Amino acid sequence: MNGFRLFPERASTVSHQTDALYLFLCTVSAFFSVLIFVLIVYFAVKYRRRSAVPPAPVHTDLRLELAWTIIPLLIVLFIFFWGARVFFYIYRPPSDSLDVHVIGKQWMWKIQHPSGRREINELHVPIGQPVRLLIASQDVIHGFYIPAFRIKQDAIPGRFAVIWFQADKVGEYHLFCHEYCGTQHSKMIGRVVVMDQQKYQDWLTGTPAEESPAEAGAKLFRSLKCIECHAEKAPSMAGLYGSKQRMADGAIIEADENYLRESILDSTTRVVAGYAPIMPSFRGQISEEQLMELIAYIKSLRDPASLKKTD
Ligand code: CUA
Repeated sequence: MNGFRLFPERASTVSHQTDALYLFLCTVSAFFSVLIFVLIVYFAVKYRRRSAVPPAPVHTDLRLELAWTIIPLLIVLFIFFWGARVFFYIYRPPSDSLDVHVIGKQWMWKIQHPSGRREINELHVPIGQPVRLLIASQDVIHGFYIPAFRIKQDAIPGRFAVIWFQADKVGEYHLFCHEYCGTQHSKMIGRVVVMDQQKYQDWLTGTPAEESPAEAGAKLFRSLKCIECHAEKAPSMAGLYGSKQRMADGAIIEADENYLRESILDSTTRVVAGYAPIMPSFRGQISEEQLMELIAYIKSLRDPASLKKTD
Protein backbone atom coordinates (compact mmCIF):
# COMPACT_ATOMS: atom_id res chain seq x y z
CA MET A 1 0.00 0.00 0.00
CA ASN A 2 3.07 2.29 -0.05
CA GLY A 3 3.97 4.88 -2.63
CA PHE A 4 1.91 7.01 -4.92
CA ARG A 5 -1.09 5.42 -6.62
CA LEU A 6 -3.14 7.06 -9.31
CA PHE A 7 -6.09 4.80 -8.49
CA PRO A 8 -7.15 2.95 -5.35
CA GLU A 9 -6.64 -0.80 -5.57
CA ARG A 10 -9.14 -2.71 -7.67
CA ALA A 11 -10.64 -5.51 -5.63
CA SER A 12 -14.15 -6.11 -6.95
CA THR A 13 -15.64 -7.13 -10.28
CA VAL A 14 -17.22 -3.72 -10.81
CA SER A 15 -14.00 -1.82 -10.02
CA HIS A 16 -12.48 -2.94 -13.35
CA GLN A 17 -15.59 -1.86 -15.25
CA THR A 18 -15.89 1.60 -13.67
CA ASP A 19 -12.17 2.27 -14.09
CA ALA A 20 -12.23 1.26 -17.76
CA LEU A 21 -15.18 3.58 -18.40
CA TYR A 22 -13.55 6.39 -16.41
CA LEU A 23 -10.25 6.03 -18.28
CA PHE A 24 -12.09 6.05 -21.60
CA LEU A 25 -13.92 9.28 -20.64
CA CYS A 26 -10.63 10.89 -19.58
CA THR A 27 -8.92 9.81 -22.81
CA VAL A 28 -11.72 11.13 -25.04
CA SER A 29 -11.84 14.42 -23.09
CA ALA A 30 -8.06 14.84 -23.23
CA PHE A 31 -7.96 14.04 -26.96
CA PHE A 32 -10.58 16.64 -27.86
CA SER A 33 -9.18 19.25 -25.46
CA VAL A 34 -5.75 18.96 -27.12
CA LEU A 35 -7.28 18.88 -30.62
CA ILE A 36 -9.32 22.06 -30.00
CA PHE A 37 -6.41 23.87 -28.37
CA VAL A 38 -4.07 23.04 -31.25
CA LEU A 39 -6.67 24.08 -33.86
CA ILE A 40 -7.31 27.41 -32.10
CA VAL A 41 -3.62 28.27 -32.23
CA TYR A 42 -3.24 26.98 -35.81
CA PHE A 43 -6.24 28.93 -37.15
CA ALA A 44 -5.30 32.05 -35.22
CA VAL A 45 -1.96 32.03 -36.97
CA LYS A 46 -3.18 30.91 -40.39
CA TYR A 47 -6.09 33.38 -40.66
CA ARG A 48 -4.49 36.31 -38.92
CA ARG A 49 -5.11 39.71 -40.45
CA ARG A 50 -2.43 40.35 -43.00
CA SER A 51 -3.79 43.29 -45.06
CA ALA A 52 -6.60 45.80 -45.18
CA VAL A 53 -8.46 43.59 -47.67
CA PRO A 54 -11.34 41.81 -45.89
CA PRO A 55 -11.20 37.99 -46.11
CA ALA A 56 -13.46 36.13 -48.52
CA PRO A 57 -16.74 34.95 -46.93
CA VAL A 58 -16.78 31.30 -45.85
CA HIS A 59 -19.50 29.12 -47.31
CA THR A 60 -20.93 26.08 -45.58
CA ASP A 61 -19.52 22.65 -46.24
CA LEU A 62 -22.18 19.97 -45.79
CA ARG A 63 -19.68 17.11 -45.39
CA LEU A 64 -17.85 18.98 -42.66
CA GLU A 65 -21.08 19.78 -40.78
CA LEU A 66 -22.30 16.20 -41.03
CA ALA A 67 -18.95 14.94 -39.78
CA TRP A 68 -18.86 17.13 -36.68
CA THR A 69 -22.45 16.26 -35.88
CA ILE A 70 -22.41 12.53 -36.50
CA ILE A 71 -19.02 11.67 -34.98
CA PRO A 72 -19.74 13.31 -31.57
CA LEU A 73 -23.23 11.75 -31.62
CA LEU A 74 -21.74 8.28 -32.11
CA ILE A 75 -19.20 8.91 -29.34
CA VAL A 76 -21.80 10.05 -26.78
CA LEU A 77 -24.15 7.19 -27.73
CA PHE A 78 -21.28 4.77 -27.18
CA ILE A 79 -20.61 6.35 -23.76
CA PHE A 80 -24.34 6.20 -22.93
CA PHE A 81 -24.71 2.50 -23.69
CA TRP A 82 -21.46 1.61 -21.96
CA GLY A 83 -22.45 3.69 -18.90
CA ALA A 84 -25.92 2.12 -18.84
CA ARG A 85 -24.38 -1.35 -18.93
CA VAL A 86 -22.16 -0.58 -15.92
CA PHE A 87 -25.08 1.10 -14.12
CA PHE A 88 -27.36 -1.92 -14.53
CA TYR A 89 -24.53 -4.18 -13.40
CA ILE A 90 -24.06 -2.13 -10.22
CA TYR A 91 -27.76 -1.89 -9.34
CA ARG A 92 -28.92 -5.43 -10.11
CA PRO A 93 -27.58 -7.84 -7.47
CA PRO A 94 -27.43 -11.50 -8.57
CA SER A 95 -30.08 -13.70 -6.97
CA ASP A 96 -27.51 -15.93 -5.24
CA SER A 97 -26.06 -13.03 -3.22
CA LEU A 98 -25.22 -13.24 0.44
CA ASP A 99 -27.54 -10.82 2.30
CA VAL A 100 -25.57 -8.72 4.78
CA HIS A 101 -27.32 -6.10 6.94
CA VAL A 102 -25.63 -2.75 7.51
CA ILE A 103 -26.87 -0.07 9.89
CA GLY A 104 -25.15 3.29 10.12
CA LYS A 105 -25.40 5.27 13.34
CA GLN A 106 -23.45 8.08 14.97
CA TRP A 107 -20.67 6.98 14.72
CA MET A 108 -20.23 3.41 13.67
CA TRP A 109 -21.23 0.77 11.16
CA LYS A 110 -23.14 -2.17 12.63
CA ILE A 111 -23.00 -5.19 10.37
CA GLN A 112 -24.73 -8.55 10.61
CA HIS A 113 -24.23 -11.64 8.46
CA PRO A 114 -27.07 -14.01 7.46
CA SER A 115 -25.71 -16.59 9.93
CA GLY A 116 -26.16 -14.08 12.75
CA ARG A 117 -22.52 -13.12 13.26
CA ARG A 118 -22.19 -9.42 14.03
CA GLU A 119 -19.32 -7.01 13.65
CA ILE A 120 -18.70 -3.30 14.08
CA ASN A 121 -16.70 -1.17 11.65
CA GLU A 122 -15.45 -4.35 9.99
CA LEU A 123 -16.84 -6.35 7.13
CA HIS A 124 -15.53 -9.84 6.43
CA VAL A 125 -16.52 -11.26 3.06
CA PRO A 126 -15.60 -14.30 1.02
CA ILE A 127 -13.88 -13.89 -2.34
CA GLY A 128 -15.80 -14.68 -5.53
CA GLN A 129 -19.20 -14.50 -3.83
CA PRO A 130 -21.77 -11.78 -4.62
CA VAL A 131 -22.60 -9.88 -1.42
CA ARG A 132 -25.75 -7.81 -1.24
CA LEU A 133 -25.79 -5.06 1.39
CA LEU A 134 -29.11 -3.91 2.83
CA ILE A 135 -28.21 -0.50 4.24
CA ALA A 136 -30.17 1.63 6.72
CA SER A 137 -29.44 4.48 9.10
CA GLN A 138 -30.90 4.88 12.54
CA ASP A 139 -30.19 8.60 12.89
CA VAL A 140 -28.74 10.86 10.17
CA ILE A 141 -27.46 10.38 6.62
CA HIS A 142 -24.28 8.35 6.46
CA GLY A 143 -22.48 7.00 3.42
CA PHE A 144 -21.10 3.51 2.99
CA TYR A 145 -18.00 3.71 0.86
CA ILE A 146 -15.41 1.10 -0.10
CA PRO A 147 -13.03 2.76 -2.58
CA ALA A 148 -11.29 -0.50 -3.58
CA PHE A 149 -14.67 -1.96 -4.58
CA ARG A 150 -15.81 1.31 -6.26
CA ILE A 151 -19.08 1.23 -4.33
CA LYS A 152 -20.58 4.20 -2.54
CA GLN A 153 -24.10 4.28 -1.15
CA ASP A 154 -25.87 6.74 1.13
CA ALA A 155 -27.52 5.32 4.24
CA ILE A 156 -30.69 7.37 4.52
CA PRO A 157 -32.93 7.38 7.60
CA GLY A 158 -36.41 6.08 6.82
CA ARG A 159 -35.60 3.81 3.93
CA PHE A 160 -33.39 0.95 2.82
CA ALA A 161 -30.69 1.20 0.23
CA VAL A 162 -29.21 -1.76 -1.58
CA ILE A 163 -25.78 -2.15 -3.13
CA TRP A 164 -23.80 -5.23 -4.04
CA PHE A 165 -20.29 -6.28 -4.91
CA GLN A 166 -18.22 -9.34 -5.62
CA ALA A 167 -14.72 -9.14 -4.20
CA ASP A 168 -12.07 -10.65 -6.45
CA LYS A 169 -8.85 -10.01 -4.53
CA VAL A 170 -7.97 -11.23 -1.06
CA GLY A 171 -6.80 -8.44 1.25
CA GLU A 172 -7.78 -5.63 3.59
CA TYR A 173 -9.40 -2.47 2.32
CA HIS A 174 -10.66 0.83 3.68
CA LEU A 175 -14.26 1.37 4.70
CA PHE A 176 -15.38 4.99 5.04
CA CYS A 177 -18.42 7.03 5.92
CA HIS A 178 -18.60 9.53 3.07
CA GLU A 179 -21.34 11.86 4.36
CA TYR A 180 -20.54 14.45 7.01
CA CYS A 181 -22.63 13.13 9.90
CA GLY A 182 -21.48 14.97 13.01
CA THR A 183 -18.44 15.56 15.20
CA GLN A 184 -17.05 12.01 14.98
CA HIS A 185 -17.65 11.59 11.25
CA SER A 186 -13.93 11.28 10.54
CA LYS A 187 -13.73 8.38 13.00
CA MET A 188 -16.55 6.46 11.32
CA ILE A 189 -14.12 4.31 9.41
CA GLY A 190 -13.24 0.67 9.34
CA ARG A 191 -11.88 -2.12 7.22
CA VAL A 192 -13.12 -4.70 4.80
CA VAL A 193 -11.43 -8.09 4.89
CA VAL A 194 -11.69 -10.27 1.81
CA MET A 195 -10.95 -13.93 2.65
CA ASP A 196 -11.05 -17.15 0.69
CA GLN A 197 -14.21 -19.22 1.08
CA GLN A 198 -12.81 -21.66 3.64
CA LYS A 199 -11.36 -18.93 5.86
CA TYR A 200 -14.67 -17.09 5.75
CA GLN A 201 -16.53 -20.21 6.90
CA ASP A 202 -13.98 -20.65 9.70
CA TRP A 203 -14.40 -17.01 10.65
CA LEU A 204 -18.20 -17.37 10.74
CA THR A 205 -18.05 -20.39 13.01
CA GLY A 206 -15.18 -18.99 15.09
CA THR A 207 -17.48 -17.45 17.69
CA PRO A 208 -20.38 -18.92 19.66
CA ALA A 209 -23.40 -19.23 17.37
CA GLU A 210 -25.62 -16.17 17.34
CA GLU A 211 -29.26 -15.98 16.43
CA SER A 212 -29.66 -15.31 12.73
CA PRO A 213 -31.71 -12.25 11.69
CA ALA A 214 -34.41 -14.58 10.32
CA GLU A 215 -34.64 -16.49 13.62
CA ALA A 216 -34.82 -13.27 15.63
CA GLY A 217 -37.48 -12.05 13.18
CA ALA A 218 -39.54 -15.21 13.70
CA LYS A 219 -39.62 -14.51 17.44
CA LEU A 220 -40.63 -10.89 16.85
CA PHE A 221 -43.32 -12.09 14.45
CA ARG A 222 -44.88 -13.90 17.39
CA SER A 223 -44.15 -11.42 20.20
CA LEU A 224 -45.51 -8.48 18.18
CA LYS A 225 -48.59 -10.59 17.41
CA CYS A 226 -48.11 -10.36 13.63
CA ILE A 227 -48.80 -14.07 13.46
CA GLU A 228 -52.34 -13.72 14.81
CA CYS A 229 -53.53 -12.20 11.56
CA HIS A 230 -50.83 -13.12 9.07
CA ALA A 231 -50.96 -16.86 9.55
CA GLU A 232 -54.61 -17.03 8.51
CA LYS A 233 -56.67 -14.08 7.33
CA ALA A 234 -54.40 -11.28 6.18
CA PRO A 235 -52.25 -11.44 3.02
CA SER A 236 -50.02 -14.46 3.38
CA MET A 237 -46.36 -13.78 4.07
CA ALA A 238 -45.08 -16.97 2.44
CA GLY A 239 -43.57 -16.34 -0.97
CA LEU A 240 -44.44 -12.65 -0.58
CA TYR A 241 -40.90 -11.29 -0.93
CA GLY A 242 -40.09 -10.45 -4.53
CA SER A 243 -43.65 -11.10 -5.73
CA LYS A 244 -45.88 -8.58 -7.48
CA GLN A 245 -48.86 -7.39 -5.43
CA ARG A 246 -51.96 -5.53 -6.58
CA MET A 247 -52.86 -2.62 -4.29
CA ALA A 248 -56.36 -1.35 -3.45
CA ASP A 249 -55.79 1.59 -5.84
CA GLY A 250 -54.95 -0.80 -8.68
CA ALA A 251 -51.20 -0.21 -8.68
CA ILE A 252 -48.92 -3.24 -9.04
CA ILE A 253 -46.01 -3.14 -6.62
CA GLU A 254 -43.06 -5.46 -6.19
CA ALA A 255 -42.81 -6.65 -2.58
CA ASP A 256 -39.19 -5.64 -1.96
CA GLU A 257 -37.59 -4.57 1.30
CA ASN A 258 -38.78 -0.97 1.08
CA TYR A 259 -42.36 -2.12 0.43
CA LEU A 260 -42.22 -4.42 3.48
CA ARG A 261 -40.75 -1.58 5.52
CA GLU A 262 -43.62 0.71 4.56
CA SER A 263 -46.19 -2.00 5.19
CA ILE A 264 -44.89 -2.46 8.74
CA LEU A 265 -44.26 1.19 9.69
CA ASP A 266 -47.05 2.91 7.74
CA SER A 267 -49.38 -0.01 7.41
CA THR A 268 -52.36 1.86 5.97
CA THR A 269 -50.51 3.81 3.26
CA ARG A 270 -50.69 1.01 0.72
CA VAL A 271 -53.06 -1.86 1.25
CA VAL A 272 -53.28 -5.01 -0.84
CA ALA A 273 -56.49 -5.14 -2.92
CA GLY A 274 -59.30 -6.96 -1.15
CA TYR A 275 -58.17 -6.19 2.43
CA ALA A 276 -59.34 -3.50 4.85
CA PRO A 277 -56.71 -1.05 6.21
CA ILE A 278 -56.94 -2.40 9.75
CA MET A 279 -53.33 -3.34 10.49
CA PRO A 280 -51.80 -1.24 13.30
CA SER A 281 -48.70 0.81 12.50
CA PHE A 282 -45.44 -0.16 14.17
CA ARG A 283 -43.75 3.19 13.65
CA GLY A 284 -41.72 4.14 16.73
CA GLN A 285 -42.16 0.70 18.29
CA ILE A 286 -39.41 -1.25 16.59
CA SER A 287 -35.80 -0.40 15.87
CA GLU A 288 -34.07 -0.47 12.47
CA GLU A 289 -32.46 -3.72 13.53
CA GLN A 290 -35.77 -5.37 14.48
CA LEU A 291 -37.27 -4.15 11.23
CA MET A 292 -34.45 -5.84 9.30
CA GLU A 293 -34.98 -9.02 11.34
CA LEU A 294 -38.72 -9.10 10.64
CA ILE A 295 -38.02 -8.62 6.94
CA ALA A 296 -35.31 -11.31 6.99
CA TYR A 297 -37.91 -13.66 8.47
CA ILE A 298 -40.53 -12.76 5.85
CA LYS A 299 -37.89 -13.31 3.14
CA SER A 300 -37.12 -16.73 4.58
CA LEU A 301 -40.74 -17.84 4.14
CA ARG A 302 -40.69 -19.61 0.84
CA ASP A 303 -43.33 -22.32 0.90
CA PRO A 304 -46.88 -21.67 2.15
CA ALA A 305 -46.60 -24.32 4.86
CA SER A 306 -43.59 -22.75 6.59
CA LEU A 307 -45.61 -20.14 8.50
CA LYS A 308 -47.62 -22.69 10.42
CA LYS A 309 -44.57 -24.78 11.29
CA THR A 310 -43.04 -21.95 13.31
CA ASP A 311 -46.16 -21.64 15.47
CU1 CUA B 1 -21.40 8.64 9.30
CU2 CUA B 1 -20.05 10.31 8.34
